[in-house]
Amino acid sequence: MKLPVAELHIHLEGTLEPETILHLAGQNNVDLPWPSLEELRAQYDFSNLQSFLDLFYANLAVLRTAADFQQITTAYLRRAHESGVRHVELFFDPQAHLERGLTLAEVISGIRAGLETGLSRWGITHKLIACFWRHAPAESAMEILRTLVREKHAVDGIGLDSSELGYPPVLFREVFAYARENGLHVVAHAGEEGPAEYIVQALDLLQVERIDHGIRCLEDPALVQRLVAEQMPLTVCPLSNVRLRAVDTMAEHPLRRMLDLGLKVSIHSDDPSYFGGYLDANFDAVIAQFDLSRGEQAVLARNSIEASFLDAPAKALLFGEVNAWLESR
Ligand code: HPA
Ligand code: ZN
Repeated sequence: MKLPVAELHIHLEGTLEPETILHLAGQNNVDLPWPSLEELRAQYDFSNLQSFLDLFYANLAVLRTAADFQQITTAYLRRAHESGVRHVELFFDPQAHLERGLTLAEVISGIRAGLETGLSRWGITHKLIACFWRHAPAESAMEILRTLVREKHAVDGIGLDSSELGYPPVLFREVFAYARENGLHVVAHAGEEGPAEYIVQALDLLQVERIDHGIRCLEDPALVQRLVAEQMPLTVCPLSNVRLRAVDTMAEHPLRRMLDLGLKVSIHSDDPSYFGGYLDANFDAVIAQFDLSRGEQAVLARNSIEASFLDAPAKALLFGEVNAWLESR
């Protein structure tokens, strides 16, 4: 039995496998600068967040129709099911797709169709979170958010992603206030490459319900105290942090310190097709590196469920599954 977990930090666009990219390029007549699998794979050596984002955004050129979104969402959920995912809160970047002439309705209806397949085939429940680019003007985010609300598109929350350094959360204060006023959940990437101060801003100015990454909180002891006291969830992505050089090696990853400090951390996969593995691979890596006991693995799983936007009865069912897992050996 796989450890039952909630996947809360996963970018749909980061699940596009190289084979799928080339398949869709052929199907949709898109010319990529790296036409063979070998040339494409040679691009996957990243020096920082931006070097990854450049490739990640370029590859999105292959996504052209609602059916493409449905197909990649279903493919992701098939793989997530194998790694023990019971609930997913899926990120997507609307700006990346509007830029290429798709409509919000095409993108969201395609993703939603895939999510429904995941529910009926594998019993994976879901929420959908639209992430705004911090490298684009806040006005762009606001315009899309107003449309999402006005046209009653089926999204459950908003997030904030893309290049972090130089784009502090304060820039998106009005966007997040508008989302909260309209009953949307709010999360933000902060403290991945950016300083602890960006985490403080995300808490105070955006009033987020979770921090995505957040590993640089350790540079500010007062912030750590606050995060522990508030039991603020931090969605940590170990393989991503190593591949984007936020840490040099897994041995230097702060997960063990974060757990020992009492921070509410959970483990996630971020962009699994780019960073060397899905949720199970992320768990395997930290279990091996930090010698995590089954009890500690269960804590990570419970934290993911607790930090999700599921209602109390749905959370209780998943906590029951974690208990069954603990008793299963
Ligand atoms: N950080 C910021 N933006 C992103 C990421 C990430 O790890 N993945 C996709 N967009
Ligand atoms: Zn991310």
